[in-house]
Amino acid sequence: MRTGTISYFFRDKKGIEKGIENVTSWGKSPKVWSAGCSIGQEPFTIAILLAEQFSNWQFANTIIYATDIESEFEERIKNGEYTESEVNAVITNKENMGLIKKYMKRSGTGQYTVIPELRRKVVFMMHDILTDGPIKSDFDMITCKNVFEYFSIGQKRNAYEMFCRALKPGGILVMDPKQRNPESEAPGNMFERIRVECPERIYRKRKKQFRVILIDDSAFNRVSDYTWTNIEADGKRIGKARVMVDGQKIIMHSIMIYPEFEGNGYAREVIDFCKEKYDMILADRVRSTAMLFWEKLGFTDNKDGNYIWKKEITN
Ligand SMILES: C[S@@+](CC[C@H](N)C(=O)[O-])C[C@H]1O[C@@H](n2cnc3c(N)ncnc32)[C@H](O)[C@@H]1O
Repeated sequence: MRTGTISYFFRDKKGIEKGIENVTSWGKSPKVWSAGCSIGQEPFTIAILLAEQFSNWQFANTIIYATDIESEFEERIKNGEYTESEVNAVITNKENMGLIKKYMKRSGTGQYTVIPELRRKVVFMMHDILTDGPIKSDFDMITCKNVFEYFSIGQKRNAYEMFCRALKPGGILVMDPKQRNPESEAPGNMFERIRVECPERIYRKRKKQFRVILIDDSAFNRVSDYTWTNIEADGKRIGKARVMVDGQKIIMHSIMIYPEFEGNGYAREVIDFCKEKYDMILADRVRSTAMLFWEKLGFTDNKDGNYIWKKEITN
């Protein structure tokens, strides 16, 4: 099933503003990607907000890539023409209306046209988030809003991975308010959430991606009992886990991250490592204080004190 194509000017404006604000250093040629852009309201909103902030010189070097699976949107975006009712769908406040007046020309028939200086900055490309790789690399910021609604967890994981490859280290990903879990849905430890006062979700690509591994192969050959296995990240021993492996199933009795390494998302990383390696993970006898942790990682209550996760089989 596909998402609809409804969009409007200045949708999630606060989130886009916060995303822009959190790009720590724009490259010499700032590059933004609006993925799933519909008929262009989102990339033009980004263009307007950047035009307001950047110097003329910086804006002249900026490109906003607008992509969608619907090829017919290209013409709309190239022409930058919107009917009165499409423009009237803007979140009407004085500030937004002022920006529309500044960056769009209204014809006698009530049609609005985005000014050429802005139209030149928005380049449309056809792109399928589910199957295509990144359109370019080293993006300062990517927005992908109101597109993931019908994606499965596996499809979301792949999309996050693709966006991560497209962003420069430290680059910003702006998601819509409904995407509540990219920290756990994105594979590995790709993004950290930036806490901002807006409903939209803002993530930063970690400068350094770390991989966690469980070592001590012996733990994986025993079926009879739980065995402690060390956890390593970037060659450092950062904790240990008590696990039992039974074929494609791993039972986790406990995960312990040493205090000096706490707060870096390593426990979540251990689970991601297991999700890649095993078809089923059982969190054994979960304490009430840990239930939320497992739920956030996509586990469900097995109603016997355990929490369970099963790999989605995609065709
Ligand atoms: C509801 S609109 C959202 C538009 C805009 N991002 C916003 O938030 O207002 C969803 C858009 O995502 C596009 N879309 C859906 N699945 C896609 C996919 N797999 N790859 C690229 N675009 C997709 C649709 O064609 C549609 O234009």
